[in-house]
Amino acid sequence: MPTIKLLVVDDDQNLLELARARLSSANYDVTVAVDAEEALKAAKSGSFDLAIVDMRLADEDGMTLMEQLHGINPSMPVIILTGHASVEGAVEAMKRGAYTYLTKPFDPRELLIQIERALDSCKLASENVRLKDLLKEKYDFANIVAKSDRMQRVLEAVTRIAKADSTVYIHGESGTGKELIAKAIHLASARKDKPFVAINCAAIPETLLESELFGHEKGAFTGAVRSTKGLFTQAHEGTLFLDEIGDMPLTIQVKLLRALEERQFYPVGSEKPVQVDVRVVVATKKDLVEEVKRGLFREDLFYRIHVIPLVLPPLKERTEDIPPLVDHLLRKICQQVKKDVVGLTPKAMQKLMQHDWPGNVRELENTLEFAVTMTQNNVISDDLILQTKGPTPPSVVEEAPQAHLLPVPGSLRSLKEARADFERAYLIRLLELCSGKASKAAEIAGKYRADFYDLLKKHEIKLADYKRPN
Ligand SMILES: Nc1ncnc2c1ncn2[C@@H]1O[C@H](COP(=O)(O)OP(=O)(O)OP(=O)(O)O)[C@@H](O)[C@H]1O
Ligand SMILES: [Mg+2]
Repeated sequence: MPTIKLLVVDDDQNLLELARARLSSANYDVTVAVDAEEALKAAKSGSFDLAIVDMRLADEDGMTLMEQLHGINPSMPVIILTGHASVEGAVEAMKRGAYTYLTKPFDPRELLIQIERALDSCKLASENVRLKDLLKEKYDFANIVAKSDRMQRVLEAVTRIAKADSTVYIHGESGTGKELIAKAIHLASARKDKPFVAINCAAIPETLLESELFGHEKGAFTGAVRSTKGLFTQAHEGTLFLDEIGDMPLTIQVKLLRALEERQFYPVGSEKPVQVDVRVVVATKKDLVEEVKRGLFREDLFYRIHVIPLVLPPLKERTEDIPPLVDHLLRKICQQVKKDVVGLTPKAMQKLMQHDWPGNVRELENTLEFAVTMTQNNVISDDLILQTKGPTPPSVVEEAPQAHLLPVPGSLRSLKEARADFERAYLIRLLELCSGKASKAAEIAGKYRADFYDLLKKHEIKLADYKRPN
């Protein structure tokens, strides 16, 4: 075991000699200092595991010295020595980071006990930090399934680029995991304890996007009753994720380009530039090279963001990821819906392997969620695997017209609208499953037939469209 190094600072020579003798005989490596100057010199030239500091020194007070020592080594525990008269000061020192204090004259055994305790708790704290780091690291990648070589390479790239501050450009079809990877980049970076701020550029009306991103001054436009910080500012020292950047209007592209180049920007209606330290990650499912050619995306901005490109392959090009994804997603879904489904029948799995997944992992997740919800066994059979036909999944939610979006930050639709969308998608899936048999569908949905018909009518769904000959 390496010897533990202690620093004892007191202006009383006798006390220093006594402490040195006592502590050395307890196998500590002791350095003594008579004043702050000597103590700081010692601390700078060698690292100590713990310091014992007298509250009253000739050249400085012990509290200031403690803070200076913490400036050199923030995690070193400090024990304060104090006379009876200045216990209050010692309590204040504890508030400012001292481990504990002892009043003079103190029992040397008590000092030894306190030293041991301080060292133990310090060790525990640093082990906790390490453990947390490890767990977090594991967590970052534990929720990303990447069995295929292509996804393995993506994850390797994520690890390599995470620590840099360069802009990352994620390209991939809808549902391939762009947001998941963007978060993983943040969590694997030194910015992980700072904010990760995401914005979907396609979901926010042009008029609001600028102030969302850069903030605005009070009175900058009608309705701007107070000044607001933009997302760039909220993401200070963290990561800003610009999703669907291909949908950013040209006017805002200009402003973004300037913000990225100059690392500063002007909030709407303000003449005072704001400086921020933000790492930018962008994602797009559009082919931006094509968009540049068509004049819909600025070429200069494209080159400014296309620094580290990451391509997420479509699921159909990495089918070996499907079985582990199924395992992972089943566990995730079962936890959410509190059901215990252990797997799929071979035929059901075969069906998943053969599908071409236009909606990629998200579609796989939806398919499994439906199957888990519907199944009455703990194994999913192939008749519960309903896949979408055609190139785009008939997701009612995604087809919702922009007019549904509320003009508020984040642009969520109302709960009522979201519920209606869900209800409609649910009914369609249910009727597909039941081949248009209303009685069976009503039973699964837990509705009386008459109510079920009302629901279909409300959503303008025709039973006949789902009837299949048996
Ligand atoms: N490799 C993966 N491992 C585990 N889960 C994944 C993986 N890829 C995607 N997912 C899951 O699939 C869903 C869709 O992923 P995500 O939202 O990141 O995709 P996206 O590319 O941003 O989609 P969109 O283009 O529709 O916004 C999420 O629930 C995500 O957790
Ligand atoms: Mg996304």
